[in-house]
Amino acid sequence: MIKKELTIRYIETDQADELEPSESALLVQAKEAAKRAYAPYSGFRVGAALRLGNGQVITGNNQENAAYPSGLCAERVAIFAASAMHPGEVIESIAITIDTDGQKVIDPVPPCGACRQVIAEYENKQQKKIRITFAGETGRIIQVEGIESLLPMTFNSHNLQHR
Ligand code: THU
Repeated sequence: MIKKELTIRYIETDQADELEPSESALLVQAKEAAKRAYAPYSGFRVGAALRLGNGQVITGNNQENAAYPSGLCAERVAIFAASAMHPGEVIESIAITIDTDGQKVIDPVPPCGACRQVIAEYENKQQKKIRITFAGETGRIIQVEGIESLLPMTFNSHNLQHR
């Protein structure tokens, strides 16, 4: 038996202007998208903005439902919209942030587990990493260079090749 260790690499800053300009612009677009979320039940409006290989930006926001599980997170709304409209384009990068009415959220809002799995699916499909940047309304911004840092030992299509 051997003991192994995984290292997760990420960058952290509280200065958006320390990010690449295209990434800080994406965070601004995610914030705008968050304001348009349909989140009457949680009041927690999440926005996601992703940049495609052709430079186009696609945004999404959480869409809630009175039957709670029928709603969908901002990240998946954006990714599925991008894949539906531009199936041949690579997703380069995704930025996630929020907009709330109450006290400002200072903790970066990371993608939930289900959204991580979906990001992993599209990384695997396009054979190219997706940069992920996430922030709260103020404070720290975190950036990782691919889903591996947020979802190690990912289940993907290779695991289905069992025959
Ligand atoms: N939410 C997202 O949109 N993305 C996440 O990664 C975490 C959670 C939404 C789902 C729900 O509408 C609200 O935030 C509260 O959980």
